[in-house]
Amino acid sequence: MPQFEAALKLAEVPLGGMRTCLIGGREILICHTREGVFALDNICTHAHARLCEGRLRATRVVCPLHGGSFDIRDGRVLAPPAEVPLPTHAVRIVEGTIEVALTRSTAP
Ligand code: FES
Repeated sequence: MPQFEAALKLAEVPLGGMRTCLIGGREILICHTREGVFALDNICTHAHARLCEGRLRATRVVCPLHGGSFDIRDGRVLAPPAEVPLPTHAVRIVEGTIEVALTRSTAP
């Protein structure tokens, strides 16, 4: 069973917006889109950039450093120079609270 932990209140993440939180010492990006709420690692897999400082366009997050982009639903790379997918994490909403279950590892 995945271990869900409280991340943020849903009301704290506006539709079309993203916020970060720390879970288990790991910086997690929470994205609220019309397709739902998604959680993924906040650090780009290309170099050390924080994706929360980039842009969210529908279900695509664009890295602020070199413009690589990822699909927030499954972490796959949508545009180079990023090559390695981003780890994504299970999300559920319980009584207005976003809960996240981390995947076990960030290793590719
Ligand atoms: S650090 Fe994100 S694309 Fe280079």
